[in-house]
Amino acid sequence: MGLVGFINGITLKNYNMTYNLLKGKKGIIFGALDEKSIAWKVAQHCVSEGAEIVLSNAPIALRMGEINKLADACKAPIFAADVTNSEDIDKLFIQTKEHFGGGVDFVLHSIGMSPNVRKSIHYTESNYDFMHKTMDISAMSLHRILQAAMKHDVINEWGSVVALTYIAAQRVFPDYNDMADAKALLEGITRSFGYHYGVKKRVRINTVSQSPTRTTAGSGVKGFDGFISYAEKMSPLGNATADQCADYVVSLFSDLTRMVTMQNLFHDGGFSFTGVTPEVIEQMEK
Ligand SMILES: NC(=O)c1ccc[n+]([C@@H]2O[C@H](COP(=O)([O-])OP(=O)(O)OC[C@H]3O[C@@H](n4cnc5c(N)ncnc54)[C@H](O)[C@@H]3O)[C@@H](O)[C@H]2O)c1
Repeated sequence: MGLVGFINGITLKNYNMTYNLLKGKKGIIFGALDEKSIAWKVAQHCVSEGAEIVLSNAPIALRMGEINKLADACKAPIFAADVTNSEDIDKLFIQTKEHFGGGVDFVLHSIGMSPNVRKSIHYTESNYDFMHKTMDISAMSLHRILQAAMKHDVINEWGSVVALTYIAAQRVFPDYNDMADAKALLEGITRSFGYHYGVKKRVRINTVSQSPTRTTAGSGVKGFDGFISYAEKMSPLGNATADQCADYVVSLFSDLTRMVTMQNLFHDGGFSFTGVTPEVIEQMEK
């Protein structure tokens, strides 16, 4: 039975089971914006499980200041990096290596943004400058991070990289817009780079395909409220929460999953393999 940590009013973990799964491990967490962020929960859970972490986000997100609370609670430095900028990423990795006196064992990519979604532009009328941005921020950034990580030799042998994705990469969810294409690319990069990093340094790379979750990025999708209840009704276990997602990610960062790589792993309460449920049929009969 582990401890629940309270530092600066922030609960490090929402329940009292910890297993020291990440004892001695070091990692980088990209994408904690506020306490609803999936990355925020992952950061908390990693630290509860014994890891030391570095936090990173875009300079503009850091200006919000929320992340300082997480940094204090996790005793983690914050290094700014816009993931569309290779120089920023180089600098981040140099700072991280200096901070830890060596490389890291895990990296979380929890980053997504689509200007087309933000501006409610219909998929069929996508603005291509915006679409480039969507791809660059939400998908190519994983390639950029991995390329720079290889160059700076920042990920240790048997290290683990996880990126967050959504089932719209495989099935059509019309209002997910060009983020669906970005997620398909993200999952492709995971497989391709997963092969090369695996051969080169036994680094594993996977995506976790999470249930719809109320966060800043999630709530930006049109009709999100209706959709989240639909997903709840379509999932035998119900929607997975951000905290549960963090638990799953911790397992992927741990030594218990060393041979899992190049996979898209659904963390969705069974949604992805459910055809229909009585609750949805009942709703249709009303
Ligand atoms: N919320 C959901 O329903 C849901 C479901 C499945 C997958 N996901 C994925 O989870 C990940 C995290 O999203 P979230 O839901 O926690 O929302 P969030 O808004 O809290 O996180 C998105 C993060 O991306 C960062 N970001 C945006 N542009 C950036 C840039 N140029 N450089 C660096 N960072 C940048 C933001 O600052 C923010 O921290 C995303 O990949 C998202 O697509 C979310």
